[in-house]
This record gives sequence, C-alpha cells and structure tokens, in this order.
Amino acid sequence: MVKMKLVKCVHLLLVVVLFGSMVLESSASFVPVDNYLIACGSSQNVEFLRQIYAPDSGHSSVSLKSQGNSIVASSNSSTVPSPLYQSARIFPATSSYKFDIKREGRHWVRLYFYPLPDPGHDLTSASLTVITENFVLLNNFTFQNYNGSYLFKEYAINVTSDNLILTFIPSNDSVAFVNAIEVVSVPDELVPDQALALTPFAPFSGLSGYALETVYRLNMGGPLLTAQNDTLGRTWENDKKYLHVNSSAVNVSVSPANIKYKGAVTPDIAPNWIYATAETMGDANVPNMMFNITWVLPVEPNFTYFVRVHFCDIVSSSLNSLVFNLYINSDIALQSVDLSTLTSDLDVPYYKDFVSNSSAADSDTLTVSVGPDTKADITGAIMNGLEIMKISNEARSLDGLLPVETLLPVSPSRKNKIGIIVGSVAAALAALTFIYFCYCCLVSRRSKTAQQGQGHTWLPLPLYGNSQTMTKMSTMSQKSGTASCISLASSNFGRFFTFQEIMDATNKFDESSLLGVGGFGRVYKGTLEDGTDVAVKRGNPRSEQGLAEFRTEIEMLSKLRHRHLVSLIGYCDERSEMILVYEFMANGPLRSHLYGTDLPPLSWKQRLEICIGAARGLHYLHTGAAQSIIHRDVKTTNILLDENFVAKVADFGLSKTGPSLDQTHVSTAVKGSFGYLDPEYFRRQQLTEKSDVYSFGVVLMEVLCTRPALNPVLPREQVNIAEWAMTWQKKGMLDQIMDPNLVGKVNPSSLKKFGETAEKCLADHGVDRPSMGDVLWNLEYALQLEETSSALMEPEDNSTNHIPGIPLTPFDNSISMVDGVTSGTDEDAEDAATSAVFSQLVNPRGR
Ligand SMILES: *[C@@H]1O[C@H](CO)[C@@H](O)[C@H](O)[C@H]1NC(C)=O
Ligand SMILES: *[C@@H]1O[C@H](CO)[C@@H](O)[C@H](O)[C@H]1NC(C)=O
Ligand SMILES: *[C@@H]1O[C@H](CO)[C@@H](O)[C@H](O)[C@H]1NC(C)=O
Repeated sequence: MVKMKLVKCVHLLLVVVLFGSMVLESSASFVPVDNYLIACGSSQNVEFLRQIYAPDSGHSSVSLKSQGNSIVASSNSSTVPSPLYQSARIFPATSSYKFDIKREGRHWVRLYFYPLPDPGHDLTSASLTVITENFVLLNNFTFQNYNGSYLFKEYAINVTSDNLILTFIPSNDSVAFVNAIEVVSVPDELVPDQALALTPFAPFSGLSGYALETVYRLNMGGPLLTAQNDTLGRTWENDKKYLHVNSSAVNVSVSPANIKYKGAVTPDIAPNWIYATAETMGDANVPNMMFNITWVLPVEPNFTYFVRVHFCDIVSSSLNSLVFNLYINSDIALQSVDLSTLTSDLDVPYYKDFVSNSSAADSDTLTVSVGPDTKADITGAIMNGLEIMKISNEARSLDGLLPVETLLPVSPSRKNKIGIIVGSVAAALAALTFIYFCYCCLVSRRSKTAQQGQGHTWLPLPLYGNSQTMTKMSTMSQKSGTASCISLASSNFGRFFTFQEIMDATNKFDESSLLGVGGFGRVYKGTLEDGTDVAVKRGNPRSEQGLAEFRTEIEMLSKLRHRHLVSLIGYCDERSEMILVYEFMANGPLRSHLYGTDLPPLSWKQRLEICIGAARGLHYLHTGAAQSIIHRDVKTTNILLDENFVAKVADFGLSKTGPSLDQTHVSTAVKGSFGYLDPEYFRRQQLTEKSDVYSFGVVLMEVLCTRPALNPVLPREQVNIAEWAMTWQKKGMLDQIMDPNLVGKVNPSSLKKFGETAEKCLADHGVDRPSMGDVLWNLEYALQLEETSSALMEPEDNSTNHIPGIPLTPFDNSISMVDGVTSGTDEDAEDAATSAVFSQLVNPRGR
C-alpha cells in the first residue's frame, strides 16, 4: 500500500516535471517576480484553476491595515460560483492591503467579489470603492443594480514603488468586502508605452502612465481559455455573442502546434490556442463578398480604450492570398493588411495596438470590423483575438470623475474641523484641476515633440534612463552630431559619452581598473557620475578593421535587448576614439569560475542555469531579431555573469547577420577563437547559426570538465577538448573526465542528457547539429532531471511539487474538444496529455 502510494507520488512528480518542461519550452517561460494569490478571509489555502490562493492573514509580504475591525465571512453553499468566492473579508471602515513589490512595472491586479450570505451584513447592498495610491479602480459599485451574481475585475497597474496599497472604502453607511485578490507581475513587453491613435492617425505615447482595466478579451472562433491555458493567467472568452451579424462569420481552426511564434510575438502575448482559431468571412460562395465582419462591444462612454487585435493567417494555402482592412469605430485602422508579407510566412502570429479615438467618446459601443479591401481583388478577412482595455481618465480614474484624493474619507479625529476641511477640499480640487490642466498640456506637448523629433530621437535606456539623463542625452546628441567625424549621432545608438566623461569614469584608463584585453581592445571597469558601475571597452585607435567592427557592434547591440545579452549603455567616438560602455557584470567571465583562479567551484545546478542563460541569449540572437544574427565567437570568456550569476552573452564585435533570403550562407574570412571553431566553417568558410552551436558545444564540455578548450601542454589526444571529450562521451564515460568537484554530486540522468546535448552540438556537419532552441530545451530538461532527483531525495519537502505559475495540466475539457480529442474523464485527458508529452520527450528530435 505504502509502495503504491510512493509510485503514484513519483508518477505525479514526473507529470509535474514533464509539464513543467513543456510549458518552459513552449512559452518564453516568464516567471512573475511578484506573484500574490490571496484568498481573503479564508483560514486555509484555496485551490482554483490549479492555482493555490493563500489566506490573507499571517502572510509575510501582505499586510492589512484597518480603521475598524474587519470581519470574516464564509459559505459552503453550492450556489457559490467558485471556491474563491467561498470566503470574504468585510470592511466596516476604510481598510488597506499592502503588497511588497519586488520588481517595479506593470502588475495584474485582479479582484473577485461575490456577495456571500452573511448573517450580520447584507453584502448585496454593500458599496465598493477601491483605490490604489494613484488610481481609482472602482467607485461606489453595488450589486443591487447589477445583473450578475459575482464581479471579477482585472487591472494592469504600473507600480513604481516597492509596495502596492489597495484601499477598500465603504460608503453610504454600508460595508465594503472582497473575496480574493491577485497581484502578479506582467512582462514589460506585454503592455507597450506606444500605440496608434486613430483620429488623427498618429502615434500615441505615454501609455505607461495610465492604469488599464480589461473589458474584453476574446478568442475569436475558439473556446473559453482560463488561467491554466494562459502563461499570464488571463481569461479569454468566445466572441460569438458580440458579432453584429451572426452569419457573417465562420470559425476556423488548426492544431495549436501549427502556430509558429516569431520575433517579438511570444506565447505571453497570447497563447497558441488564440492564434489557432479565428473568425473568417462567411461562405465564399455568397454572390457579394463585399461585407464586413463586425463586433459590437458595449463600453462605458467618456473613456478611451486600448485595442489590441491578434491575427494569424491559418486559412491561406499560399503567401499573399489574403488582403483585408481593419476598422475601429468606422475609422480605418489598417489598410490592405497582408499578414504573410508582415510575417513572411503563414501560421505566424501578429498583433497590433491602437487607442480608440475620442470622437466616439460619447458613444456607448465600440465596434471593430474586418472586411475585404475594395482596392484588392482578393477577398477574405480574418481575426483571431481581440483585447479591449479601458484607459484611466484625466482624474486618474477607471470609474467616474472623482480622483483618489476626494474619495478618501475624512478621518474621525478631524471631524470637528470639518469646515476647514471642506474649504481645503475645494482648494485642493481647484489646485488639482490646475495640475491636470498643466499635465494635459505637458502630455500633448511631449507627444508633439516626440513626433517632430523622430529623425534624431535617442534610444530609451530602460536600465539607466531617468528623465535627467534623457535631457542630457538629447542635448549631447546635437553636440556630437557636429563634433564627431564618425557620425553615428543620426541613428539610435544609445547614450553618447564625451571623452572627458569616459576619462573621469575610468580614472584616466587606470591600469588597475583593467578588466581584460581582447581582439578589439582593452576593457576597463568604470563608474559613472551617478555611481553606476560600467565596463568601458576602448578600441585600438585607427584600425580600419576595428572601426567596422565598432560600428557593427553598436548597431547590433543597440537593436538587441535581452535578459541574457550584455546591454550596451552608450559609446564615445570623440577624437577618433572607439569606446563602448556596457553594463558591468560583477562576477566576470564564466571561464574564471571554471579554472585558472581560486574562485569557489560552481555547483552542477549553477552550471546548468548558466548554460541555459547563455543558450537563451544565443537563441535570441539567432531567432529574436528581424534578421538572424550569428555570434561567431562563442566561448567561456564571452559569457559573463552578473551579481546574481545570471549569464549574459557578450562581445558581438565579430557578429554578422545570418543567412537572408538570397544567400544560403555568409562567407567571410575565418574569425573566432581556436579551439571553438566549427570544423565545417574552417574548411569551407561558410558561416551559419550552426557554427555558434558547435562553439557552444565546446563551452558545454569546458563547463563539465573545467579545462581550456585547447591546452597544448597536454598529451596530443587531449589537447583539443572537443575531440577528447567526444571520445569519452561516445564510450558513455563522461563521468571519468568531469570536474572532480562534481563527482558524486550530479544526477546521472542529468549528466547523460547534458553529455548527449554537447555531443549533438559537436557533430561534424552543421545539418546534424540541433538548433539553439533545441539545445536550450535539452538543457532545461537536464536541469529538471537534476531538480527532480534532489526533490526525490527530500520527500518531506512538498514545495517542489508546486511550481508556481505553471499549471499542472494545461488542458481542460473545453480545449480537448477543439483539439479533436474526445474528452473523457479528467484522468483520461491527463493520461493522454501525459503520454503525448512523454513521447515528445523520448524522441526530442522527432518534433
Ligand atoms: C512604469 O512607469 C515608469 C515611470 O513612469 C516608467 O519609467 C516605466 O517604463 C513604466 N513601466 C511600464 C512597464 O510601463
Ligand atoms: C460624458 O462627458 C460629457 C461632457 O463632459 C457629459 O456631458 C456626459 O454626461 C458624460 N457622459 C457620461 C455617460 O458620463
Ligand atoms: C466596412 O466598414 C467600414 C467602416 O464602417 C466601411 O467604411 C466600409 O465601407 C465597409 N466595407 C464594406 C465592404 O462594406
């Protein structure tokens, strides 16, 4: 019996690991830094949609401050719509939850309300006002005039301090309450700062200063998707009930596995289930195909709306055979869209953001249509997904015209001074009106200057840019435009530094701050005026070769931003200098943690994580930009570690963009470092992404064996690590030559996976090597195997059973029907799903 249980437990764990790795692979694996799921008033954890909500009391990072005593209510009644609504916290007086925020930026704030039957209070007459410190989310909502039984609200709020305070204010002598709260980090790239405004047709910027509320999130022609089918916990509903004319649209679907994510569109933007279904124009045999498919969406007037449309051409059999228009509120938003031109392929997701025009502000509907382009002789139209979010108004409110300041109740101790307060509220209101007026002027002026300045705007520097340096930058840009002979100032190359600033930062290139010397020049540690540590790379002066590389690198780096690529902060080209300023990587090159120094040895898990990070960076280089980029000098000294040992790929000085349409390879003089060179590249001088994969294979062996790629003092057969390690790998005896520090501390199956991955990378011919994406996937799997083994060794540690944010089973019944799988019991579905994933894992190359 006990044995059975154990077997089941292991089985369950395996399921977790398998799904874990699948989700990791299929998504960009965004892990929210802040992830609060709170069941208010509950005395125990609550599970909902396979996520665990913790009680609001006794939480280490969430605190509750109440001006009166809050009350707990609960109900086991079967009429309660979901387990999250079974408990509530009731507030007779103004009360606030404070959430510690570890990472600033947008957060989902999700609120769940259901008026539970409570003996002491009639919650249906409760009045709900909810504010953050800056925004009004709900103002005086009551269930009395509401024709729903529960209320779910989702907001995306940019939190710019280290905590978020949600305040619940009861009014009209009633109480306020809440059943559950989620506060979860949103990836920065999900909600942009810019979108297209429609009338006039112009860029709209500054969205990051507004709060957003989700009003619609539709999966065209597809099923309901919930938190367990979405990497960001979103809910998508079917669009049918919003269609203006039901028969105008027919739904189509393909297998979600067909969807090919490319570039900036990742599963975090929308899951493949969204792109795999769509509404298209009704029967093609209809005599007149000149009609639109229109969705009519009731909205609150006097607000502007953020509109995101998702497209994916899943219907065409060849390129350029679908051309259509998109209208929002009868304004043309996109004309003659040809998705296959925008994405260069079929089945590739695409999305576009708009801000609804103000002329429709007094209308209580928002309409979105797609229809054939009358100018094109090809008819057809498609839409896969649609998101509509309300934008906070000039009172910084999403509900009504009263700003936060006027909603906070007067505290009892000041009641006797009510007269003064009324006076000062009036004064404050006047002041506020004035401030809003100024703010609006400023915003409109700012957006104007942004438009005018497009020719010479500067790359925003998300890591280091504050408004002060921004102004400084733009004045300098003009200076450098005239001062420098290599006129880089006309494009977006990051911050320009004067030579004097560089001298100050590096203490006149003091030899004691020298970090290293490379082919391009010397690298110094520097400190900017504001205390930021940087790495300053100074090119050898006046070398033609260097100049070209200098430009390549700036151009390349300024286009690329990724967590696993070293960021370029700026450059200096004054006095014919070629100086690049990078973010400083506190733990230096990976190589120095492997051998040749007396730094403590890295654990196996650390090594795997570092390799995964570097692989991610390279994968991004190969696939993330519009054109594939080949690094050409992958080695352990070009993988740098930051203060948290996060690996970042450095040195694109030798980079070249990858094969484009008219070339099958890039042929150049052989560059790179001996010991890491792809033998095929060396022989044929042909460069492909697979050359980087080979070099990365060498890195993997170096990480395992902790010795240099080439070591001429060793016996002949051992000189080259690639050759030497491969002979041991082929014998299945890699453990004989691995770092002695690791012996006995590595899970054998993790080591095996790692060895096989390295072996594939080191294949003689490029075609036999995996892509960087496959390498990444295999390394992640090796890490999972390592983690599982340590979890099994400590069975009392339950926490590893629950990987936060990763649903245990991504399929529910509504989905399996779409997939053509007859949905049986939950267990059947789970087993089917497991075996499908398992077969993928057994044969990773068959995918
Ligand atoms: C949040 O606001 C800050 C300050 O306005 C801004 O710098 C940042 O880019 C915003 N973040 C997002 C994700 O919008
Ligand atoms: C919208 O704003 C206008 C002008 O401020 C106002 O007259 C109108 O009543 C508002 N409509 C609603 C529904 O609040
Ligand atoms: C589709 O709707 C737009 C906006 O309402 C309209 O201008 C256009 O003529 C319509 N197209 C067709 C083919 O009816």
